[in-house]
Order: sequence, then C-alpha cells, then structure tokens
Amino acid sequence: MRNLTDRRVVLGVTGGIAAYKAVEVCRRLVDAGAHVIPVLTESACRMVGPPTFSALASERARTSLFDDPGSSIPHTELGQSADLIVVCPATARVISDLRSGRSGDLLTATLLATRAPIVVCPAMHTEMWEQVSVQENLSVLAERGVVIVSPESGRLAGGDLGEGRLAAPERILAAVSAALAGGSTADYAGRRVLVTAGGTREPIDAVRYIGNRSSGRQGHAFAAEARSRGADVVLITTSPETAPDDVDVVDVASADEMAQACSVHAAKADVVVMAAAVADFRPAEPVDHKLKKSGGVPQIELVPTLDILAGLGAVKPERQILIGFAAETDELESNAAGKLDRKNLDMIIANDVSKPGVGFEHETNEVVVLTAGGARQHLPLCDKRDVARYVLDAAIGLIERQSDNQEQT
Ligand code: CTP
Repeated sequence: MRNLTDRRVVLGVTGGIAAYKAVEVCRRLVDAGAHVIPVLTESACRMVGPPTFSALASERARTSLFDDPGSSIPHTELGQSADLIVVCPATARVISDLRSGRSGDLLTATLLATRAPIVVCPAMHTEMWEQVSVQENLSVLAERGVVIVSPESGRLAGGDLGEGRLAAPERILAAVSAALAGGSTADYAGRRVLVTAGGTREPIDAVRYIGNRSSGRQGHAFAAEARSRGADVVLITTSPETAPDDVDVVDVASADEMAQACSVHAAKADVVVMAAAVADFRPAEPVDHKLKKSGGVPQIELVPTLDILAGLGAVKPERQILIGFAAETDELESNAAGKLDRKNLDMIIANDVSKPGVGFEHETNEVVVLTAGGARQHLPLCDKRDVARYVLDAAIGLIERQSDNQEQT
C-alpha cells in the first residue's frame, strides 16, 4: 500500500462502540505512511478520548467547529486539504447526514466541504443495519461514488451476534488505498489473471459422475474482482453460475479437461488463482453408455487425477504469483502450510469447510491466508468478494516486492 505515503487522510470517528477499533485503523494508516488527522464527533469522544487519537495520529484530534485554536474555519481547511476522508465507524446518523447534506458538527461539515474521495465504514446493530432507511441511504451514497466498506457478521456490543460489526482493519485499509488509487482501482490493468472455479465432475458412465459440493462462487468472485481492477481474466470453470462480464470463459467438466485448459493458459498468467475443487480420483474406465441396474452393483475402480496445482508449481514462471486453496476439516493451518510448500505456491487460502457459512455452497467465507514468506492473515466471516479483494491486494504487494528486488539486483 505504497500509495498511502504522505497522503492526507481525515479519519472521521463517530460515536459507535466500534470507535475503539478506529484507534487500530488510525495506527495502521500512519504505519502505511499516511498523514492522518482524526476528527471525532461529540459522541465518539464519549467512547474513546481524543488524546488517544492525538498520540497515534499525525496531528492532534479535532472535535469542534468553533473552539479550534489553530483555525477559524477548520472544516474547509480539512476538507480542502484532504486527499481522502474515511469515516470509521460510521453510525446510521452520519450516513443519513451525509446523504442529505446536513452539517451539524465538524465531521459532517468537513464531509460537505471536500471534493476528496469518501470511504464509509458502517458499524451498528443488525436491526439498524437492516433498516430500509439505512440501506437506502447507503445505496444513494454508493451511487454518488462514496465507497462503502460493508460490515461483517460476528459478535456485536451487548453480546449479540449478527451482521453489523465493523469491517476488519485490513479491508478498511485496502478500500482507502483503492480509493486513493483513483476511485476505481486499476492496479491490475495490463496484468493477466487466470482463475479456476467450481467442482470437477468425473464421469462414471454416460449419465453419472463423481462430484463435490463446490459452487464456484469463490472463483467467480476472484474473476469479477480481478476484472473490475483492470486485469485480463481467463476463467476456467465447471460452474453453471453466470460468469462475470468481460472475462474469457473456458467451460470444463472433469479434472483432465481443467488440466488441459490450465496448460494452455497458465504460462502467460501473472497471477493464477486455483480456486477449483479438483477431484483427487476419477473412475479408471468411464463407460460411454448408461450402466443398467440389471448389470448388478458396479465395481468402480478409481485412479488418481493429476494434481494440477502441483504441476503448475513445478513449472512456475519466475515472476508468476501462484495461489492455491486448502479446503480442510482438521488441522487447518498445518495442512495448508504443507500444501503451500509442497506445491511451490506463493500464497494459500485455507478454509475450514466444516464451519457454518464457510466455503462450499455459501456466499461467505472465513479464511486464513498464508504466504511463502511466512505472513499470516485471518479474515473473519465475510463476503467471498472481500476474500478476493484482500488476496488480490496481497498479490499486488508480492508483485511490487518482486519488481523492487529486480530493480535492486
Ligand atoms: N488441486 C489441484 N489438483 C488436484 C487436487 C487439488 O489443482 N487434483 C488444487 C486445488 O484447486 C487447491 C489445492 O490444490 O487449490 C488444494 O486442494 P485440496 O483439495 O485442499 O488438497 P489436496 O491437494 O487435494 O490434498 P488433500 O486431499 O490431502 O487435502
């Protein structure tokens, strides 16, 4: 996230309980090189004291329109000089004010007095989050170009569980970085991304196959995210789900067909994301007609399929980023780390598919991302698109590091 260096970021903090998490976001923005100016609402000050933010940020925390000793018109100075404003957490109140153009305090006045991109990170109880009025306000803001970092599901204040918890700091930073890169992130422009998706189907006879529960949604989310960031995307998929617009789709069914298609497209790719659930075994001799009951219970001999990802790892071009998945039910991280190493990957996304809402057949995922360099990141239950966003950010980081190393040698 080098594009945060020296950028003036106004960090608006409103009075939700998640205000304490804004302290961590503040610290991470500063660590990433941003010049951070916290602006706290009156209610935010009841949650976390301004001195905490002043100590961590690049400038003292601002709290009022009127008693700022350094400026008589603080909102225009802040709004005009900001490269970006991020509101974290954003309560239903500030979302509504921003939508309707109301400015009752320093933060809302600054939000009106700016032409800089705005990133809003809502956090509230599930009932509030689901209110039609809140959702409508957010859609209007999104249409106007405000970036909304959707909240996650999890534990909320008061011990409740549900959607509405502030997004993880890494997602907020990724959104800030993307918005600074020009609203629409074009960080993959000119790069080729190959994605595989869905569960393979290994024929038994003319009508039956061995399959698995993979929906292909995670792979399709990767393809959509990469395309939206400017990549040329090839999607090799078994999934009947509609593919994202403007990607090259190669429809396949079996592991063999997927391996064939990968061998055509992988060498040219800058990033390969192997999200498909490839069968490890297939019937040795599929028959080309329908097996009849009258023939008795069939004995189906299985033989191993090719491990496509291990094959790609063995011939990986020097600057390619190779990303695999590990679908596990036990010993998630040690199994994933073994696959990362054995298959010569740069990154592996491990998910415990026995957990509710995780992996196969769900819209959501909870993953741990491990890199060959030893980094580890847990992403709590979130949209599959958010997983794709995080991983593609991390992959760009690896690509940039490779280029830096290349320049130095
Ligand atoms: N994979 C592959 N070809 C296979 C099997 C798996 O390319 N024949 C890829 C998957 O797409 C995934 C990664 O390897 O990115 C790990 O897949 P997973 O099913 O979790 O592990 P396996 O290697 O099959 O090992 P195990 O069955 O022992 O868990």
